[in-house]
Amino acid sequence: MACALPHHLFFFFFFFFFFLLFLLPFSTVAQTNGTVAVGTSITANTKDTPWLSPSGVFAFGFKPLQEKNLFLLSIWYHQIPDQTVVWYGNDGIPISTGSKLDLTPDRGLVLSDSQGNELWKSQFIVDSVAYGFMNDTGNFVLVRSDSFNLWESFKYPTDTMLPTQIMESGGVIFSSLSETNFSQGRFQFRLLLDGNLVLNTRDITTNFAYDAYYISGTFDPNNSSNSGYQVIFNDAGFMYILRRNNQRFDLTPRQLLFPTTEYYHRATLNFDGVFTQYYHPKSFDSSTKWTPIWSAPDNICLNINGEEGSGACGFNSICTLNEYKRPECKCPPGYSLLDPNNTYGSCKPNFSHSCSEDDINSGEELYDLLPLKDTAWLTCKYEHLQPASEDLCRKSCLNDCFCVVALLLNDSCFKKKLPLSNGRQDRSVNGQAFLKFRKSDLPLVRPPPPPIPKPKKKEGTLIVVGSVFLGSSLFINFVFIGAVCLGFFVIYNKKSIKNSHSDHCATETNLRCFTYKEHAEATDGFKEELGSGAFGVVYKGAIQMGSRVVVVAVKKLDRLVQEREKEFKAEVNVIGQTHHKNLVCLLGFCDEGQHRMLVYEFLSNGSVALSLGKEA
Ligand SMILES: *[C@@H]1O[C@H](CO)[C@@H](O)[C@H](O)[C@H]1NC(C)=O
Ligand SMILES: *[C@@H]1O[C@H](CO)[C@@H](O)[C@H](O)[C@H]1NC(C)=O
Ligand SMILES: *[C@@H]1O[C@H](CO)[C@@H](O)[C@H](O)[C@H]1NC(C)=O
Ligand SMILES: *[C@@H]1O[C@H](CO)[C@@H](O)[C@H](O)[C@H]1NC(C)=O
Ligand SMILES: *[C@@H]1O[C@H](CO)[C@@H](O)[C@H](O)[C@H]1NC(C)=O
Ligand SMILES: *[C@@H]1O[C@H](CO)[C@@H](O)[C@H](O)[C@H]1NC(C)=O
Ligand SMILES: *[C@@H]1O[C@H](CO)[C@@H](O)[C@H](O)[C@H]1NC(C)=O
Repeated sequence: MACALPHHLFFFFFFFFFFLLFLLPFSTVAQTNGTVAVGTSITANTKDTPWLSPSGVFAFGFKPLQEKNLFLLSIWYHQIPDQTVVWYGNDGIPISTGSKLDLTPDRGLVLSDSQGNELWKSQFIVDSVAYGFMNDTGNFVLVRSDSFNLWESFKYPTDTMLPTQIMESGGVIFSSLSETNFSQGRFQFRLLLDGNLVLNTRDITTNFAYDAYYISGTFDPNNSSNSGYQVIFNDAGFMYILRRNNQRFDLTPRQLLFPTTEYYHRATLNFDGVFTQYYHPKSFDSSTKWTPIWSAPDNICLNINGEEGSGACGFNSICTLNEYKRPECKCPPGYSLLDPNNTYGSCKPNFSHSCSEDDINSGEELYDLLPLKDTAWLTCKYEHLQPASEDLCRKSCLNDCFCVVALLLNDSCFKKKLPLSNGRQDRSVNGQAFLKFRKSDLPLVRPPPPPIPKPKKKEGTLIVVGSVFLGSSLFINFVFIGAVCLGFFVIYNKKSIKNSHSDHCATETNLRCFTYKEHAEATDGFKEELGSGAFGVVYKGAIQMGSRVVVVAVKKLDRLVQEREKEFKAEVNVIGQTHHKNLVCLLGFCDEGQHRMLVYEFLSNGSVALSLGKEA
């Protein structure tokens, strides 16, 4: 009897354990209705659960940061893999383990450290709080007994707006300082009292606002009832400026096809100054990401133009726009980051820059200029030469100890001094910068070569050969090419091809010297691009060599390299005289005016590429 449990008891225990194991943990989560009772507190550690909204989409509490034992008092999307932060308290300053957040009846939310020192509190609470509520919209509210909202996180936005959130006239959100530092950064999104919505940079210490780099134009000086007064992010996921006459000025394009029933939305002033509205599917897997719907401005590198402030990047830095319409910053050659951990920050020159007697009297001996294509720093010019040739522009900067960079735009030459601001590299710049450097500070480190572009789907061998050219530096190209083709050259040598084509050609090698015109014809006007790489673009072509037509790859060196390769001819001579089996054959070159090119035999089987691999 003692051993045989009656059936009903057995089932009772079975279900009891089942309940304990499975239902209890779930039921604690399911229990939340978003309400937080007065007197509740949470502590910054890895165990306390945050306050969840009824559906569990949003959480309010201490979010662990990457650095150990640090937390951010914040509201975040709790369920999606990114756990995106949408609001933060304590001015974005991280909080250490043991800090505590209390919901008090008389002072609202109060944050204190583990010693009990008050760090932060929700503002302007004078009435008694009945309860707190984490709404499914992402808004945390403190509610009075008559249901009046005493405090809302939506009224104190940080860097993000969410659907159902409204910004009133005079409102502002700040970018964070970086992706990991949530302190207020250099960029602002403001609805001005005059009705314009603007994006602007600012001085961080005094909050002085610099010129806007985006203006909505919703200010009507003739009739204030046409001016904007609210930025509305409605529950359907549309952002617009509401004018006082109830007309809408759309920010989100009307044809938006991401209904809030199926997608989460947010609009964030990113740390780099680009304001972006994103969507994220509500059904997701671990790889689902936020995708931009629209952003402002169009091109932050070009749109920031004020006389004051450093621009999108730090001082002396160069801004380029990436494929996501976000800025990337890099220091020019000879400059390095002031703060090595902040690639968006300012750059300092590596060289000593002085106006000592030596510098004044022997500018051209001490300094040289590095040409940077499509690059400009638009502000901080102190002299304007016009009309100016490239030669005049260069000489003028070299012999002027104040000049750090000369900018040639059409026939204007602008000389600039430190610090340089609003640097950008973009095709539309359509000019050239000549950056001064001290010869004794050589060797200048070349900017790292851009990644090898994804080859277009063509025959495999073509890709291999192309990437051999593109992936290697100019120097390695020079080393690797050469003279497999001993026999080849013997044949052509006998036919005495060299120097027969143009008087630009003066070389003692076996290499053939082509004219630019021949190159253009051979490549059918540089039509078929095999790819572009670190030092130029490679084109496919065909060239008549004696009695046979040879398929060739023509590497057109870009100007930067051209200018720097002063010993171009000497090197070509050296290579031409170096013979090595298994190497790709350099057939010839072009050195005519501003054109510098190398012509390789184009190999249609992979064997050479393979042997090149072994050589390397
Ligand atoms: C939420 O649940 C608590 C008890 O857990 C209850 O006191 C409160 O009234 C509920 N609030 C709502 C809005 O249902
Ligand atoms: C939650 O947000 C919705 C949408 O804005 C609103 O209708 C509702 O009243 C809010 N709930 C509370 C308790 O504030
Ligand atoms: C964030 O940046 C500010 C200003 O540079 C600095 O004082 C603060 O220590 C930084 N915070 C973190 C967590 O790095
Ligand atoms: C304001 O009025 C002036 C003169 O009446 C007119 O030229 C201007 O275009 C008007 N501005 C706007 C924004 O309507
Ligand atoms: C201002 O604009 C509103 C609506 O656009 C119009 O009704 C009103 O007459 C205008 N006022 C003046 C003074 O033009
Ligand atoms: C600048 O100088 C630092 C050391 O002073 C060096 O590590 C760095 O490579 C230099 N950068 C350039 C671009 O010359
Ligand atoms: C850069 O970051 C590393 C690791 O976060 C830190 O150890 C180092 O002190 C930082 N350097 C500067 C100059 O802030």
